[in-house]
Amino acid sequence: MKIAAIVGSNRKDSYNLKLAEYVKKTYSHCLDIEVIQLNNLPFYNQDIENNPSKEVQDFIQQVASADAVLWVTPEYNYSIPGVLKNAIDWLSRGEKVLIGKPSWIMGASMGTLGTVRAQIHLRDILFSPGVSSPLLPLNEVFVGQVHEKMDQSGNLVHEPTKQFLDIVVDNFVKWYHAEFASKK
Ligand SMILES: Cc1cc2nc3c(=O)[nH]c(=O)nc-3n(C[C@H](O)[C@H](O)[C@H](O)COP(=O)(O)O)c2cc1C
Repeated sequence: MKIAAIVGSNRKDSYNLKLAEYVKKTYSHCLDIEVIQLNNLPFYNQDIENNPSKEVQDFIQQVASADAVLWVTPEYNYSIPGVLKNAIDWLSRGEKVLIGKPSWIMGASMGTLGTVRAQIHLRDILFSPGVSSPLLPLNEVFVGQVHEKMDQSGNLVHEPTKQFLDIVVDNFVKWYHAEFASKK
């Protein structure tokens, strides 16, 4: 199963990027994950949406060709970062490649709540008409105090979080096969 893991942070040492890389490496036996950062994506502009730059076209194509999207995002000011909203705005236009494409969400922050508020907003956005991405029910992954759960090299070392991710990945794979695989 091919997964586009879209990371909501564009910084090079991002904890969310490291979390996405951990999931890619750890579950490579069942998920083919392409980690996507959004650094090169220009601002959405309706004037150019029918003839966007190559960066935009490539990004939309990467997502279109995936079976599902994994959103891995920090929380900025109680919501999702602007770079992630911008990416969703691009994806919500033209071919509207997210419609019907299954999604699941993870988020990491240094605070205790682990991106709860951002994920609530992201869920709302995913249900909007131009997006309409079915979301894995329950299985909310809030990695709080993430800086204490990774080692110096950015590897996730917190056993309860690792075990919880095992369960969530298993639930995602089962949900995908039950709800979507046969309909492709
Ligand atoms: C502009 C900005 C706003 C932030 N707002 C929040 C917030 O609302 N809630 C929160 O838990 N952390 C907030 N943080 C802290 C982030 O959780 C922290 O910087 C985290 O490491 C960002 O994710 P990253 O490591 O993947 O880049 C904010 C950070 C920045 C730069």
